[in-house]
Amino acid sequence: MEDRGSPGIPNGWYAVGWSKDLGVGDVQRIRYFENDMVLFRTRSGVARVLDAYCPHLGAHLAEGGRVQGESVRCPFHGWEYDGKSGECAKIPYCARIPAKARVRAWDVCELNHMIFVWHHAEGKAPSWEVPAATQYGDADWSPVRTFEIEVPVHIQDMAENNLDPVHFEYVHKMSGTPDTEISFEKDGRVLNAVSYSTQETPVGTFDMQLLRETWGLGLGTVESSGIPGVGLFMFTSTSPIDRNTTVSRWALTTTNNSVDIAGEEWMDNITKGVYDDMRIWTNKVHRAEPVFCEADALLVEFRKWAKQFYSPVA
Ligand code: FES
Ligand SMILES: [Fe+2]
Repeated sequence: MEDRGSPGIPNGWYAVGWSKDLGVGDVQRIRYFENDMVLFRTRSGVARVLDAYCPHLGAHLAEGGRVQGESVRCPFHGWEYDGKSGECAKIPYCARIPAKARVRAWDVCELNHMIFVWHHAEGKAPSWEVPAATQYGDADWSPVRTFEIEVPVHIQDMAENNLDPVHFEYVHKMSGTPDTEISFEKDGRVLNAVSYSTQETPVGTFDMQLLRETWGLGLGTVESSGIPGVGLFMFTSTSPIDRNTTVSRWALTTTNNSVDIAGEEWMDNITKGVYDDMRIWTNKVHRAEPVFCEADALLVEFRKWAKQFYSPVA
C-alpha cells in the first residue's frame, strides 16, 4: 500500500452499508478496517457481519454463500457459520464439528438507516452506543435522502475538515471564515462545534448556526438552524476501508414545511461541497506533525481530541 504517512485505523462504530440495501437473505461482500468480511441479513431479519474466509479451505463466504436461518453457508463445501457467534453450526456431511471451525463475528447494530460495525484495534468490546437520531421516522420530517462517496484519503484527514474554518473560504469559496466554537461531552469523547454565519436563502437572509456533534472520528450529526420553524438535519458515518481509503455516508432530512425550498437547496449545497474538497483530499499526505500557526487553535484542539481513538501502536 502506498505510504502517505497515514496513521492506523481509529477505534469506533462505522457504517458498512445502508439498511435499505440489505434484504432478508441478502449476502454482501464488504471490506473495512483492512479486513475482508461478509455482511448478511438472517431469516429473522438481523444484520450480521463475519470475517470473510472459511477456516476449512478458505473460500470467501460472500462469493456464492447463502443464508440458512441465522447462519451463512459457505459456497465451497456447505459448512454453516452462525451469524451471532461465528461458530460453525453445521457440516452437512460430518457429525463432529472441529473446535477451530469458527470465524470472527463482529459487533453489529442497525439504526439511522445504516448498519454499523464496531472496530477496535485491540479487540475490545464496544464502550459506547451509536446515538439514535430522533428526526428519522418523525412525521414532521421528510423521508430521508441518502448520499455516499468514496475518497482516497485517511479518515482523520476527512474528519479534520469539520474544525478547519479557514478552508471554507479557500476551498468552498465562502466569504470570510466562519466564527466557530467547540465544546466537549461524555468525558471528552464527543466533540460539539458550532459555526455562525449570515446566509442568503430562497426565503430571505438569516443569521445561521451550523451545529456539528461528532462521536469519534466516524459518526456525526449536522444541524442547521436560524430560519424560524425550519429544521435541516443530517446524520453522517465515515468509515475506513483501509489507511488511504474512506467512505462517507450521509442521511439528510428536513422539516416537511421546508423540504421544497430551503431543504432542496441545503441538500444540494451540502452534497456539492464535498466535491470541492476532493482534489485536496485525493492528493494530500497525512502530516503527523503539522506546522501550525497561532491562528490554527481549532486544528490543534482537533488533533488532541482525535488521539484518544487510536490504540497504542504495538
Ligand atoms: S471452504 Fe468453506 S466449507 Fe470448504
Ligand atoms: Fe470541506
